[in-house]
Amino acid sequence: MLPTHAVGIDLGTTYSCIAYLNEHGEPVTVPNRDGELSTPSVVMFDGDHVIVGTEALRNSIRYPDRVVMHAKRFMGESQHRWTIAGRSFNPTDISTHILKQLLSDARERIGAIERAVITVPAQFSDVQRQATAEAGRRAGLKHVDIINEPVAAALCFVLGTEGIWFTELATAQTIMVVDLGGGTFDLSLVKYEKNSVSVKASGGDLHLGGLDWNAALEKAIARQFQKDFGTDVLRDRESRQALALEVEQAKRSLSVRPKAALTCQHSGHR
Ligand SMILES: Nc1ncnc2c1ncn2[C@@H]1O[C@H](COP(=O)(O)OP(=O)(O)OP(=O)(O)O)[C@@H](O)[C@H]1O
Ligand SMILES: [Mg+2]
Repeated sequence: MLPTHAVGIDLGTTYSCIAYLNEHGEPVTVPNRDGELSTPSVVMFDGDHVIVGTEALRNSIRYPDRVVMHAKRFMGESQHRWTIAGRSFNPTDISTHILKQLLSDARERIGAIERAVITVPAQFSDVQRQATAEAGRRAGLKHVDIINEPVAAALCFVLGTEGIWFTELATAQTIMVVDLGGGTFDLSLVKYEKNSVSVKASGGDLHLGGLDWNAALEKAIARQFQKDFGTDVLRDRESRQALALEVEQAKRSLSVRPKAALTCQHSGHR
């Protein structure tokens, strides 16, 4: 019988990743079927087809009402629903589709996977943690563990800098992890000891992330567009989604350049 793998999954608001330990015990991120190391946490429903990742994100301009993104922001709120072509999905359903895709892509490269550890923000409630684990089980995993994102980051930091397994590390240390993600901002003090790694204190905002930077930029551009052309780009779902993708690109450009240009198109104006 072939051995089955255990994987670690970072189920993010905007991007998700999956990794496993190779035969040397080193963590390796598994590329998705398109060769990308992270998969956009975006799900598109096209008739009976469910499309996850970059293709879904790309299609979000043309078919904004078939695409669901940022589901993690609503994790644990089972009443929250997206209705697409008469079918209704809650945040656990959307996360299940993302996990299914990550797992099926990874299985093609590394073989059978039955167990996973999925990361959640330190400030996630029990209900939010349970919803995440439930999504993992529904995605076909036999066993799901949940780990705090800052604990995973601290482990990576220590293993990366010390280059040895944490059970071999004698000294305890306290590490501050600052994680400004797509949807959440988490600041945690993580205590690292010989046989345990735990969150000692945690703060931040479960509803603050890169998405909010984007939303502020979109609003500012829409205001200018309204002034120039007298029409509101944010009221049209297609124009709005096109602007959202432009803003994301421009924001990334601004990380490496002092200036960036973007295009905003709506009702014949640009
Ligand atoms: N080069 C860049 N410059 C600026 N922002 C970037 C860059 N690359 C990614 N981002 C932003 O980082 C965010 C994604 O970060 P990350 O992948 O850590 O979040 P996540 O894990 O999806 O979300 P969360 O941890 O909040 O659930 C997005 O808002 C994205 O716009
Ligand atoms: Mg994250």
